[in-house]
This record gives sequence, C-alpha cells and structure tokens, in this order.
Amino acid sequence: MHERPTDELRCEHELILLVAGAMEQEAGAIDAGSPVNRVRVAQMVDFAQNFTDRCHLRKEEEVLFPALADRSRAATEPVRTLVSDHRVGRDAVTRVDRALSDVDVDERDRTVVAANLDVYALLLRRHIAKEERILLPLAELVFSGMEQELVAREFRRIEELGAGRGEYDRYQALARQLARTAPAGSRDPRMAA
Ligand SMILES: [Fe+2]
Repeated sequence: MHERPTDELRCEHELILLVAGAMEQEAGAIDAGSPVNRVRVAQMVDFAQNFTDRCHLRKEEEVLFPALADRSRAATEPVRTLVSDHRVGRDAVTRVDRALSDVDVDERDRTVVAANLDVYALLLRRHIAKEERILLPLAELVFSGMEQELVAREFRRIEELGAGRGEYDRYQALARQLARTAPAGSRDPRMAA
C-alpha cells in the first residue's frame, strides 16, 4: 500500500512506461518488416484501455485533477493540457484497435498500427514527465493529510469499479510480461522527451 495517493500514481506510471517501451519496440519491429504480433498488440490495447484509461486516467480525471483545481489556481492550465493529452492518447489506441484485425491483409493497417503505437508511447512519455514535474509535487504541497486520505479512498472506489485488486494485479503482471518479451534490437527505447 502506498503512503500517498501521488506515490500510487507514480508507481502506475512506471508500469505504463514499461508498456510504452514495449509498444516502441513492437512498432520498430513492424517498421523493420516483421509481421504484426496480433496477440501482443491486442494485450497492449487491453492494458491501455482497461488499466491506463479506466483505472489510472480515471483516478486523475475524476479525483485528483478536480480536487487540485479546487485547491490551486496554478493547476488549472496544466490540468486542461493533461486532459487534452488523455483524449489524444485514447484516439491513438482506438486507431490501433480498429486497424488490428486487417493487418495481415492490408499494408495500410500495418502502418496505422506501428505509427499509432509510436505516437501513443511518445505522448505517454511526455505526459507522464509533465505530471511528475508539475502536478504531483503541487498536489503534495497543497493537500492536507485528510485530503490525501479522501483522494486515496476515491482511488480504491475506482479500482473496485474496474473489478478490484485481482484485475489490478493481473495488469501489473501483464505490463512486466510485455516489457520482458518485447522484440529485441529493433529499436532503442526512446528516452523521455
Ligand atoms: Fe498519470
């Protein structure tokens, strides 16, 4: 259990970045001519939609960001940008998901999958860097102990909506598995922007 809800988000960022690295490796392999590994890419889409989006981003959009915007005007503009990043990321994942069924027969869909895996991974790196540089330290500065507890309680509620701790643990394992089994040598993982 994490001491502060912001630490919980940082731990989730580490998992999300593991999958971002695996996505970049996968995109590199596709660009180099490998067939699209539909099972792996479907697992990445599953992680992005059900862990990153329905769990992590909901904690931010429904709980942390509004609470922070209430407490600090300095949060208003960064929150607007970060929510807009979330939308761009969801669109990229939807494009991967839609293109996946035809990748073996349509060269354009191969390109769509590789390009959007790359776009999404790069977006996540920049987005997470912004959150960790600006928003999370601000939250730690302005929230009292009681407010942090309330935020943490709301985080638990969101996890329960997503089928609880069992699912949470399953996605942690999936992130590590995707990182461990990423195609090697196709491309160096990108560094944070
Ligand atoms: Fe985040």
